[in-house]
Amino acid sequence: MTEELIITKGNKTEKYELLFQQIKALVEHETNTIANACNVVAAIKETFDFLWVGFYYVDTPNELVLGPFQGPIACTRIKKGKGVCGSAWSLQQTMLIDNVDEFPGHIACSSNSKSEIVVPIYDENQFYGVLDIDSEIYNTFDKIDQHYLEEIITSIRPKIIFH
Ligand code: SME
Repeated sequence: MTEELIITKGNKTEKYELLFQQIKALVEHETNTIANACNVVAAIKETFDFLWVGFYYVDTPNELVLGPFQGPIACTRIKKGKGVCGSAWSLQQTMLIDNVDEFPGHIACSSNSKSEIVVPIYDENQFYGVLDIDSEIYNTFDKIDQHYLEEIITSIRPKIIFH
């Protein structure tokens, strides 16, 4: 398969449709979690040019640790229930934040971050981590982002988790 990502045209939905296919193809024949997670964040970042795209993984019973990401340097550890990422963990639901300054306890890794979406990665047995995306623009993320990012995570979950 091609290792080039070319998704420059189309509206958000059209871009996500192509990105979804591309990501599935990228991870299909690779079993290494780090390699796959790296390419997933790169594909999302290249497509939408978000400020920060990355994974946090469960490291201890109550703490996430930074995983593969693209963007400014980020905080390495986030406690369960803290910030947007820790809230996605404790609530086990996607967090759509239009204005991070209005989210109580938001952890500001970059002062340029204005809005954020965090998608939890879990199945019926276990919680594995989150996909976190930050934007420099307020109100960037909506139900379309949530739909496709949840679909991507669900469909490639075995390829991007540590057991
Ligand atoms: N804003 C996140 C912290 C991680 S950075 O955005 C990369 C939070 O509040 O959990």
